[in-house]
Amino acid sequence: MKNKQIILGIETSCDEIGISIYCNKIGFISEYTYSQTIHEKYGGTIPELSSKENIKKIISIILYSLKKSKKKVNFINAVAYTKGPGLKSPLTIGASIGKSFGYTLKIPCIGINHLEAHILIPMLFNKNIKFPCLAILISGAHTIIFKMITYDNLKIIEESQDDGIGETFDKIARALKLKPYSGKSIEKKVTYRKTYKTIKYLKNKTIENQEKISFSGIKTNAINYIKNNKHINIEDICYNFQNEIIKTIISKCRKIIKTYKIQNILLGGGVAANQELRLNMRELTESLNCTLLYTPKKYCTDNGSMIAFLGYIRMYEGKKEKNLKINTFPKLKIN
Ligand code: KG4
Ligand code: ZN
Repeated sequence: MKNKQIILGIETSCDEIGISIYCNKIGFISEYTYSQTIHEKYGGTIPELSSKENIKKIISIILYSLKKSKKKVNFINAVAYTKGPGLKSPLTIGASIGKSFGYTLKIPCIGINHLEAHILIPMLFNKNIKFPCLAILISGAHTIIFKMITYDNLKIIEESQDDGIGETFDKIARALKLKPYSGKSIEKKVTYRKTYKTIKYLKNKTIENQEKISFSGIKTNAINYIKNNKHINIEDICYNFQNEIIKTIISKCRKIIKTYKIQNILLGGGVAANQELRLNMRELTESLNCTLLYTPKKYCTDNGSMIAFLGYIRMYEGKKEKNLKINTFPKLKIN
């Protein structure tokens, strides 16, 4: 779009409030992610607590973001919010606020698919994408490898048959009592490229047997290992577990890249913030003569910027919502 456009992005699919303001001529002029810690004592996100937090904080975060952007609210040309997938009540808060802004300011309001936003944000940082390419989505609940024919036409090649990759990390962090219960805490325990003791019990057998992506076996083995061994070395467990998870993804991608003869690989989702995974993925793509397209780490985990950016693309395509009905889709998929 030639004219200057400013988009407010609102992300509230789980336990974060991500607010971002994107200008097509400048880039992000304000970005803020508030991560709720209230859920830690429960061991998992409680949807009602999350939506209560959202109600309490979201307006002040939007006002703070506007102040940071040095733009008055009437400079906003469109508002984009996450319509799904995610938790129903937190999604509803974001959608209600988005629609209210749209209605009051008489500007377009656009519901965004959170999964598409994760996949497409690397496009902002890598301009020359060669289609078809491969899009790898590795977030909390999702582990999906897509063939991307154009940026709006994605076909699933393979996905996890059971647990999501990020959830698997979360469960092991919880079993090891590493707060916050996230892959980030596992990663912190591992020093890159140091030598660790191999724990055979923590092998993901699906790799050797070339089976579809699956994490439930290694998850159960890791939890049992932690429960049944009195003297465990946390660093060794974190290393072995993280290494197997990375190997699972890398071995799948190697096979798929060779089969589909693809040149560009897009990487998105919270687990894509893992440094060792990024290094392995880069080594793999370089060895196969293709290019890895990814983002700085802060755009891998949930954020309002990916919503604002995709909102801009959707606005460009003319996909605006005309009604005030608040529709959210907790189980939304791609296509
Ligand atoms: O994309 P995301 O923020 O939310 C969803 O859409 O699910 O991904 C969250 C997931 C969590 O399960 C978390 O454990 C994982 O991303 N994660 C990581 C890292 N940072 C976040 N996993 C491994 N290494 C990390 N550095
Ligand atoms: Zn996400």
